[in-house]
Amino acid sequence: MGIDYTDEMENTPIITGSFLQEDAAEKSLRPRFLSDYIGQEKVKNNLAVYIEAAKKRAEPLDHVLLYGPPGLGKTTLAGIIANEMGGNLRITSGPAIEKAGDLAALLTNLSMGDILFVDEIHRLNRSIEEILYPAMEDYALDIIIGKGPSANSIRIDLQGFTLIGATTRAGQLSAPLRERFGVTLKLDLYSPEHLQQIVVRSARIMEVEIDPEGAMEIASRSRGTPRIANRLLRRVRDYAQVCASGVITRKVADEALRMLDIDEIGLDATDRNMLMSIIRNYGGGPVGIDTLAATVGEEAVTLEDVYEPYLLQLGYLSRTPRGRCVTRLAYEHLGLEADYQGQISIPLDG
Ligand code: ADE
Repeated sequence: MGIDYTDEMENTPIITGSFLQEDAAEKSLRPRFLSDYIGQEKVKNNLAVYIEAAKKRAEPLDHVLLYGPPGLGKTTLAGIIANEMGGNLRITSGPAIEKAGDLAALLTNLSMGDILFVDEIHRLNRSIEEILYPAMEDYALDIIIGKGPSANSIRIDLQGFTLIGATTRAGQLSAPLRERFGVTLKLDLYSPEHLQQIVVRSARIMEVEIDPEGAMEIASRSRGTPRIANRLLRRVRDYAQVCASGVITRKVADEALRMLDIDEIGLDATDRNMLMSIIRNYGGGPVGIDTLAATVGEEAVTLEDVYEPYLLQLGYLSRTPRGRCVTRLAYEHLGLEADYQGQISIPLDG
């Protein structure tokens, strides 16, 4: 059993930008078994049943689709599934698979019970995606040899494996691919209490002293996301070691996070810029996501995948058929109550 992280998430958007060295450090903080995994109770309970059942039948686990905002632990869960099932984990991503042969090579190298994790699976090329259909359904690879009327198809048997697909947007997956996953699990943003437990656990692994209030301060400013909580914990640890006694208290965490421009509910400069742009340039909305992205200088997908989920959860932003609107709560948070005009907004589902 082993984990091969070679191709992992080179371009995954995270709140402060692209892949950083710290993401490598994150691996050592990852829980290895379901019993160590904090939060996502529904996902954990479901997975525990499916894993136990598959193990009892001595069969590979059915294919699993994980979806939800970045940083919530999709790769971590894939590692846990591999550990619990006792299989090897191979990690790749949709954009990393450029040719049909890349995927064929990955699939033919899998052993019985192995787990293939495909991050950003919605970015898999459609013609490559079709290779997955017989692989997922029949553990087989159909290879076309030759061209035109003399073309022939041969079938290569694969070992029984589990595909774990991860995506920030289940809606962008083609229906044929989506339907081939036997298990679909949605990850939600974490509560501050669960994030607090994660911060305490990570601090223990990093051998840094933290009190419960210090952990809660970091947790409640981490936008519901463990990857952000662990990153902020590292920055707060730096601050505690250089500017304080080394112990992370609420006061130390607050000072360190202020220095990072992260406000008391976890909004950073881009969140505030986004909200202020809608207010100042578009009268509080509605404004289309592409227009907004151009105004704040970010890509529309980054705003949608990285920034919006937390702002929507806070109730600071609403999505309507005509675009995004800022709510009264956001005006209040930004100290602009007097400017609030109120919009008649018909929220969109999801
Ligand atoms: N580290 C990152 N995510 C975690 C989780 N859900 N539980 C425990 N530790 C974590």
